[in-house]
Amino acid sequence: MRKKIIAANWKMNMTQSEATGFIETFLLELGESIEVEVVIVPPFTAIAAVNLALGDAQHIKVGAQNMHWERAGAFTGEISPAMLRDLFVRYVVLGHSERRTLFGETDEMVNRKVRAAHEAMLRPILCVGETLEERERGDVEKVLGTQLRGSLAGLGAKEMQETVVAYEPVWAIGTGKTATAEQAQEAHAFVRRTLAEISDKATADKMRIQYGGSVKPDNARTLMSQPDIDGALVGGASLDPRSFAQIVKGSQEL
Ligand code: PGA
Repeated sequence: MRKKIIAANWKMNMTQSEATGFIETFLLELGESIEVEVVIVPPFTAIAAVNLALGDAQHIKVGAQNMHWERAGAFTGEISPAMLRDLFVRYVVLGHSERRTLFGETDEMVNRKVRAAHEAMLRPILCVGETLEERERGDVEKVLGTQLRGSLAGLGAKEMQETVVAYEPVWAIGTGKTATAEQAQEAHAFVRRTLAEISDKATADKMRIQYGGSVKPDNARTLMSQPDIDGALVGGASLDPRSFAQIVKGSQEL
């Protein structure tokens, strides 16, 4: 049984004080018992504030939105895996479509980052997804297959198992257009079959695949009740502690 994993990708939003206020409200809204894994992914500058505000709520994990693959050195403006570990970060989002399209990240770069994350004992949340044009051309499987094979090259079964994949159709990110539950399930099933080819079926069956792209309190449950959808990567709706708590709570007994 795969434990659902729901992550809040804050992107370039939230100062330290806003992050602190968010966590305080979120913890109150969420209450004590949660059966799903929750990851807050703030910008680097708010990670320490989130840790502090979480206090004893150690069941909620902290993630980062990106990192460099090198351990240290002359890479002005970059953050290393060890720096994230030092901030008690457990997950790192890699290959988000905004990084791929706005900052030129290739599958090869993403693969270096994925491998560096595992070396540093960080768990990658690897994002893959097609653009609208690619979907209309009928290239969804081709695009997802290439991204998955390129980004996960060289991983052993244990590393694969500790990797979370986020399927995020680019046309659904920040647009208010969500994939239908059927479209999402179809893509997730394909992702899982590809993961089995890259690794093996038993490993692929243990891996968690999140859906991302305009996830909101009113569509999250339907999406997450699909057999191959094991959680959500939430952007816009994760900036409001009440809607994010609703998404988490709504996924409880699925
Ligand atoms: P969105 O973003 O929920 O605002 O569509 C999702 C993401 O980019 O991870």
